[in-house]
Amino acid sequence: MLQHPPPKKERPLQLLVPDLAHLDGYAAALRRGWSPDNVRVEEAPREELARIEANPAAFVASLDDPDAKAGPISLADGTTVPRLPGYRRWMWDGEFCGSIGFHWQPGTAALPTHVLGHIGYAVAPWKRRRGYATLALAMLLREIARHGMSHVDLTTDPDNLPSQKVITANGGLLVERFTKVAGHGGTEALLFRIPL
Ligand SMILES: CC(C)(COP(=O)(O)OP(=O)(O)OC[C@H]1O[C@@H](n2cnc3c(N)ncnc32)[C@H](O)[C@@H]1OP(=O)(O)O)[C@@H](O)C(=O)NCCC(=O)NCCS
Repeated sequence: MLQHPPPKKERPLQLLVPDLAHLDGYAAALRRGWSPDNVRVEEAPREELARIEANPAAFVASLDDPDAKAGPISLADGTTVPRLPGYRRWMWDGEFCGSIGFHWQPGTAALPTHVLGHIGYAVAPWKRRRGYATLALAMLLREIARHGMSHVDLTTDPDNLPSQKVITANGGLLVERFTKVAGHGGTEALLFRIPL
């Protein structure tokens, strides 16, 4: 007789430092169509799956880079800029749920003009509307507060109401509506600031 595995039990949401033990769940989400990048939505999963296949340990290590060891970044317009220190965390409730990332410029809360915000996040479509993005941002902010920064900035598209709710639920205030630089599409965006 076929034995059915017991249904997976959801656990409270955690933010995990990416590691090899959880990489299969992450890669499965990429294959299922989830993208960790809200701008390069289609390219990012393809590129990451190729990097995972080539060198899983190096891929996992690259997601946690508080010393910006990975070297400069090429922008869409061909210019090269220094990488900011940063790290990603995986939202996990017993399964992969999404990713949240933070990067900063050492010694200041200001960001270079080509960087849209300190924090970005994306929840897998099948894990949305459970409060996970709101909770993940709250947990990350608690961690960031220890760095002594005065505030963090985040941007959203004007029609991304779910993301705006995630930010305002965490104390975010609308600063301005602005036009993104050409390298980020030149479209309108909203800038929010969360005092820490
Ligand atoms: C934006 C995003 C991260 C929200 O993730 P989530 O885990 O579903 O968010 P939460 O469950 O914490 O919900 C936050 C709020 O938005 C609301 N919301 C979430 N999805 C919604 C939807 N599709 N339609 C309407 N409201 C929605 C929730 O009800 C909640 O509102 P409440 O506080 O009034 O109850 C997720 O939709 C996503 O990954 N989108 C694609 C990537 C993206 O846009 N990232 C942010 C770029 S700035």
